[in-house]
Amino acid sequence: MPVTNTTVLITGGAGFIGSNLCEYFLERKYGVVCLDNFSTGFRHNIEHLFSNPDFQLIEGDVRDYAICQKALDGVDYVLHQAALGSVPRSIQDPITSNEVNVSGFLNMLHASKEAGVKRFVYAASSSTYGDSESLPKVEDTIGKPLSPYAITKYVNELYADVFSKTYGMETIGLRYFNVFGRKQNPNGAYAAVIPKFVMQLMQHESPVINGDGNYSRDFTYIDNVLQMNELALTTQNPKAINTVYNTAFGDRTTLNDLIHYLKEYLSEFDSEIKNVQVVHGPNRMGDIPHSLASIEKAKELLEYSPQFSITQGLKEAVKWYWEHLK
Ligand SMILES: NC(=O)c1ccc[n+]([C@@H]2O[C@H](COP(=O)([O-])OP(=O)(O)OC[C@H]3O[C@@H](n4cnc5c(N)ncnc54)[C@H](O)[C@@H]3O)[C@@H](O)[C@H]2O)c1
Repeated sequence: MPVTNTTVLITGGAGFIGSNLCEYFLERKYGVVCLDNFSTGFRHNIEHLFSNPDFQLIEGDVRDYAICQKALDGVDYVLHQAALGSVPRSIQDPITSNEVNVSGFLNMLHASKEAGVKRFVYAASSSTYGDSESLPKVEDTIGKPLSPYAITKYVNELYADVFSKTYGMETIGLRYFNVFGRKQNPNGAYAAVIPKFVMQLMQHESPVINGDGNYSRDFTYIDNVLQMNELALTTQNPKAINTVYNTAFGDRTTLNDLIHYLKEYLSEFDSEIKNVQVVHGPNRMGDIPHSLASIEKAKELLEYSPQFSITQGLKEAVKWYWEHLK
């Protein structure tokens, strides 16, 4: 049990976003409990924290209700990140995605209510916008889900809303938009596009763009996401709770431009990289052409002020990958 006064449980704390959250909240003198089953997260993301007396790791599965209860012992706040990410993974295996992302979520939500936590902040997703074509995406206007993953993330929002209304629980959902940055896993079939492209370029392999490269995304640097989590956890504005927020920078970048930036920034470390050619493949199932967040709601209610544009974030991320994984 961490020794400081305010303790936050970070589920999925060994993953990309979760491990950054663990570091961030420890630096701010919170006690941090990390619950993770290491299915897609890594011990190496958090092992430098093991010697910190304010950090506790509980290895376990959110599908196990007793583990959720155990992890909540002495906890004030929950940042629920544990889930199986990736649209293609959920198309491949919708049953397991549902078990982890829906049943696991409900376990954590219910156990948090029973434990009387002060607030439950959770990772929602821009995939909830589904087939809605409106741009920018505004929180109240969503379409139909385009993948099993999107369904699971939408169900999370529905449960959180009902728990707020039925049990008076404080919840906030953060709809993350294509987060990237240090410690995001570049390997495996379900790797996200930025770390995958960075690794391929560093190895002088041709990245494959699905489609013509004109699809665009609101790529969001991890530090903006950390800020949103802190604001969601600490806000005292009663109008700001029991709702969901786009968590993004609020600008969109095409895949072609993304490759251009990555080649430019990586070329500072290895000039050969600017000559690596890109290959185009077919469009991917479940992908929407464009995604762009309105961040007005977060600015107004949470006083969100993102500090990293995509290019600033990419420079940081590229440097990190070069120093750690080359
Ligand atoms: N990265 C993004 O761009 C993005 C976008 C939208 C939403 N999200 C959501 O953010 C959260 C974190 O995503 P990430 O990118 O850090 O992914 P990640 O795979 O790196 O992290 C997920 C973590 O959850 C853990 N986990 C998975 N199943 C578990 C289980 N049954 N019990 C306990 N732990 C379990 C994994 O081991 C891993 O450490 C997820 O909920 C994801 O759906 C991420």
